[in-house]
Amino acid sequence: MNDTVKKRILFVDDESMVLKGIQRTLRKMRNSWDMTFTTGAREALEILDTTPMDVIVSDMKMPEMDGTQLLGEVKRRHPHMVRLILSGHVEQETTIQSVQFAHQCLSKPCDAELLKQTLAKLFALREILSDDAIKKIVSQIESLPSLPSIYTEIMAEMQSDDPSINNVGKIIGRDVSMTAKILQVVNSVFFGLPRKIGNPQQAVMLLGLEAIKSLVLSVKIFSEFSQQQYAWFNIDDIFNHSISVSTHAKAIVKSEKMDQDLVNYSLMAGLLHDLGKLILATNFNQTYKQVVAESQSSDSQLWELEQEAFGTSHAEIGAYLMGLWNIESPIIEAIAFHHCPSRSASNHMGLLAAVHIANGLDHEEASADDQAAEQLYDNEYLDRLGVSDRVPDWRQVCKAYAERNA
Ligand SMILES: [Fe+2]
Ligand SMILES: [Fe+2]
Repeated sequence: MNDTVKKRILFVDDESMVLKGIQRTLRKMRNSWDMTFTTGAREALEILDTTPMDVIVSDMKMPEMDGTQLLGEVKRRHPHMVRLILSGHVEQETTIQSVQFAHQCLSKPCDAELLKQTLAKLFALREILSDDAIKKIVSQIESLPSLPSIYTEIMAEMQSDDPSINNVGKIIGRDVSMTAKILQVVNSVFFGLPRKIGNPQQAVMLLGLEAIKSLVLSVKIFSEFSQQQYAWFNIDDIFNHSISVSTHAKAIVKSEKMDQDLVNYSLMAGLLHDLGKLILATNFNQTYKQVVAESQSSDSQLWELEQEAFGTSHAEIGAYLMGLWNIESPIIEAIAFHHCPSRSASNHMGLLAAVHIANGLDHEEASADDQAAEQLYDNEYLDRLGVSDRVPDWRQVCKAYAERNA
């Protein structure tokens, strides 16, 4: 998608008054958006058959075909489109079901500024993920890891009518080596739990299903990596760094009083922000081995050298995979831009900022060189957010958090 071309957006709502309201609030966007409005889901599909669009923003509750069905159909027929749901407060519950088809859900009445920002972010992300270099690299990867089945099983249990902590504990317990690793992480500083956890059921009970879901996915991915086969690549170092980034990101998200969702997401975003490194190591063994060796003996950062060798970096590759797995957009955004957040459209303190700073803080701790540590932060981005002077505060926040949980 090109920035200079007008974005084409289709709005669907069975109430014409609502559409008129949206049209009014978004009038000032006329120069950059080409907006079409329709009151019927079937008409929407007909329009899309003849007129290519970039985005669909659909109401949830509509006669004959609801928002979930419509977006499911749009996903099947026009997979490239960005899909948003606008829903009223009372419809929150059904909205959860549509998450699998919607990239994001916004509540009605829709705030023009929020909608504008949400779309701008999704466009920026799609641009980076549809980049030719990424496509080229991905086409050379023999098999992109599929979403671990244990994660799908847990998701299914969570979405069932009566999700049971006990059942989730049992699903985890069947995988003995993963259970051991999960308990090790759960008992680490990240969670700061008051007592030691001895089995997966207790872990689910204390952390909640959302956190366990993220943990299972991350731990499974790391445990499937064969350290013996890639002796030159230290998976434990990356895992420990990822735990630290999670811990720091969570501390920052909490200290900035961000949404509870982002507290949950900070776990997965931190643990998997460097997932792309595992993909590069397993698929481009020799080349990546050289790139990693070069980064250890030069002033350049690893992701810059990756960009020279592959045309893209572990950040975009990891985000691409998470995108295929339909992981929540804030997590994908945080992973895609964790080294260069200024390339994103984000302009406020959110998960991306937290992960970027958390990553910088952990590398800073490992680096003896003050000047090298300075390069870890994207100053252009911190300036954009008006927080360039706050890194020392967050350093302190993370230190205090770790001490409290130690
Ligand atoms: Fe990274
Ligand atoms: Fe990192």
